[in-house]
Amino acid sequence: GNMPGQGGGMMGSGSGAVENRKTNNFSGEEKPLPIPPLLEDENPDPNKAEFTLVAQTGSMEFLKGKPTDTFGYNGNYLGPVIRVKKGDDVSIKVKNELDEATTLHWHGLEVDGEDDGGPNSGIQPGTTWNPQFTIDQNAATLWYHPHLLHKTGEHVYKGLAGLFIIDDQDSEQLDLPNEYGVNDIPLIVQDKQLDENGQFAYNLGMQDVMMGLQGDTIMVNGAINPYVEVPKGKVRFRLLNGSNARIYQFALSNSQDFYQIGTDGGLLEEPVKLSNLILSSAERAELIVDFSSYKEGETVELTDQGLPFLKFVVTGEEKGPKELPAHLVDIPQVDESMATNTRKFVMSGMGQNVTINGKQMDMDRIDEKLKLHDTEIWEITNDGMGMMGNNMGMAHPFHGHGTQFLILDRDGNPPPPNERGWKDTILVSPGEKVRAIATFDHKGLFMYHCHILEHEDAGMMGQFTVEE
Ligand code: C2O
Ligand code: CU
Ligand code: CU
Repeated sequence: GNMPGQGGGMMGSGSGAVENRKTNNFSGEEKPLPIPPLLEDENPDPNKAEFTLVAQTGSMEFLKGKPTDTFGYNGNYLGPVIRVKKGDDVSIKVKNELDEATTLHWHGLEVDGEDDGGPNSGIQPGTTWNPQFTIDQNAATLWYHPHLLHKTGEHVYKGLAGLFIIDDQDSEQLDLPNEYGVNDIPLIVQDKQLDENGQFAYNLGMQDVMMGLQGDTIMVNGAINPYVEVPKGKVRFRLLNGSNARIYQFALSNSQDFYQIGTDGGLLEEPVKLSNLILSSAERAELIVDFSSYKEGETVELTDQGLPFLKFVVTGEEKGPKELPAHLVDIPQVDESMATNTRKFVMSGMGQNVTINGKQMDMDRIDEKLKLHDTEIWEITNDGMGMMGNNMGMAHPFHGHGTQFLILDRDGNPPPPNERGWKDTILVSPGEKVRAIATFDHKGLFMYHCHILEHEDAGMMGQFTVEE
């Protein structure tokens, strides 16, 4: 099939003037996949959780003998996994030990604007920000990353990102693989460009400005060419496209089918069988891969457009559920008639010409005003415009803060089965119109934007308020 946002699918007229940069993983040394640690909850009360995150500079030897200057939370690169339960009262101290301002945004989390960590919440060097909120949504794999105006791309690229996992009664009772790091494995996939000194050169060339920065090397959890041992059984992967811009088409090297059980904002109603999965920047998917028919020591690789970047090595150990639950969770039928308003968003352009509804981000302007607890339909169009008004535009992943959406339709057609779940980031192809519905139960100031970080930083973002 044609893949939105890549190769032929990307160019409205198929000219191929701008192409997805090829990845070329070093065929060198394999490394064990790093598993991000679970962050310690400092509060002994089972219904309360307290965490500390420190944004800091660091160094990583991605290439032998060429240490890379990095950013990380509580470490050199990326951050620990924050894991909480629905209903928990959470307090997180975010300390900025960088020598520049940053912010920290909880992507996909339904909290009030003052705790959301958007561009208006700058954390100055040497200071601590302490948002507090109650977890008010279902089990999901969310993430956190900085969101400073014009700086998000660079800060994320240097390593500031981590997962935020919510559990609830459903997710705990379902017979799904759930041993963290054993058969429930987080995969943060990012593409990077290392210069001749081994540094993350965040110097945007023409193509990076236009399409967002794409590197030639894929990393998973901060490792190039990783391998991970998996038991002989069903294994769950919590996949985050943590890349600045690249859209992946994931598949297994032997073309084996797998199941998607969760989207950005939670579990699907039922597992969806797939042979490949397209994931744009910031989207998540929970997958189940069945290794039970493998022999001990047998391997298979996860690939992007046919290029392998992560090896699974099957051990002799048998583990996990024999069958997948046929039904996972109930997703409410959100009735279109519940919507009090339809709001239109038109994404346009590339490079410095990116806009939403013809405008670029202005911190002093509120673009949309919503009423608390209203349900709205957001009609998101990609007008397909590229550079200088030509019609060779590209796919843009649209992200809205403060809620989770259900996709009603794509160009009038029902969404594919693996998108019939909660979504906070929706890939919209050139010329496509997507309608999504959401209820806005949290008040304050929020962002909507393209999640290609170079587009966001160039102003492909707007602000909305939710007030009584
Ligand atoms: Cu993942 Cu507005 O961000
Ligand atoms: Cu977000
Ligand atoms: Cu974009």
